[in-house]
Amino acid sequence: MNEPLGKVSRVSFKDEHPDLGDGREEIIKGLSLPQKSADPKWFYDQRGSELFDEITRLPEYYPTRTEVLILEQQREAIAKICGSDCVLIEPGSGSSEKVRILLDALRPSLYVPIDISASFLRDSAELLGEEYPWLDIHAVCADFNGGWAFLETLAPSPRVVFYPGSTIGNLEPDMALRFLKSLRDMAGPDGGVLIGVDTHKSTERLNAAYNDSAAVTAAFNLNILRRMNELLEADFDESRFSHHAFYNESLRRIEMHLVSNCDQQVRYDGGRFDFREGETIHTECSYKYSLEDFTALARSGGFDIAETWQDDAQLFSVHYLRPTV
Ligand code: SAH
Ligand code: AVI
Repeated sequence: MNEPLGKVSRVSFKDEHPDLGDGREEIIKGLSLPQKSADPKWFYDQRGSELFDEITRLPEYYPTRTEVLILEQQREAIAKICGSDCVLIEPGSGSSEKVRILLDALRPSLYVPIDISASFLRDSAELLGEEYPWLDIHAVCADFNGGWAFLETLAPSPRVVFYPGSTIGNLEPDMALRFLKSLRDMAGPDGGVLIGVDTHKSTERLNAAYNDSAAVTAAFNLNILRRMNELLEADFDESRFSHHAFYNESLRRIEMHLVSNCDQQVRYDGGRFDFREGETIHTECSYKYSLEDFTALARSGGFDIAETWQDDAQLFSVHYLRPTV
């Protein structure tokens, strides 16, 4: 059900409960593989979303401030290419900070922030509604990899998907391709995708961005253990794991892992996970794309790149994708 939020009648919130269903089985399956792994979506509860926001302000984490600069510099060109009155859909909207740069220029007929982090999304949508009293907001808590059935009731008017932050980099290339194809179907022939993509660059710079000196990224990574304790009724002890992040140059991706500091057993409701000292849980990939690689991915997904904008140092890229006719 659409729930109107607080004083702001133009803002509604719908919870598709992505935390229910088969999440528990999915996590157990990942932790039972020879290389233990977990989907990065489990980072994001209220605390995880707050920690990510802290990451975006770290001196070492260049992607956010660089993308913000590009969006500010290109605001008018972006508004022109997106057109006015679109339905603006943002998967993985987080704090909805970046969309504020575009709203006055774009004047969308509706803004649809979608995120897995329920309470954080709710609060962000309510705050945005107070700041932009003219804007209709329909917030949906959902897993953006689970299809777009919940958008069926929206007006079919031109849809623009705003997908900033290089969140596409957190998807394995085959998933990224599948996701782009689903965006093409959802946006329709008159729509488009405004997407932010982090670029391949020096290993030193990338390693620094995911190993900040204030250890906020470490806290963000370790937060996934707290989530697992909640979801599996498990007894992971954060002090027995360490953050490890590095750029895998041949695969062009940052890998984040949690390393077991000792031989240990972790119990959960229904079983036990055994860890050897040094064994890891692979918690996130963050793929980095050259312009050529991303162009090839977009083409395979059924898009032409209509525009690409970059900062002077070419640390980050923002593209406008149009469905190929
Ligand atoms: N768009 C913001 C936030 C990026 S962080 C920015 O550019 O700064 C990634 C966001 O995607 C988080 O808010 C997280 O909660 C959300 N997210 C991650 N996996 C998701 C999934 N599978 N479904 C829905 N939201 C997801
Ligand atoms: C959301 N996502 C694009 C971030 C990234 O850079 O891959 C998540 C993150 N992980 C560690 N730091 C930031």
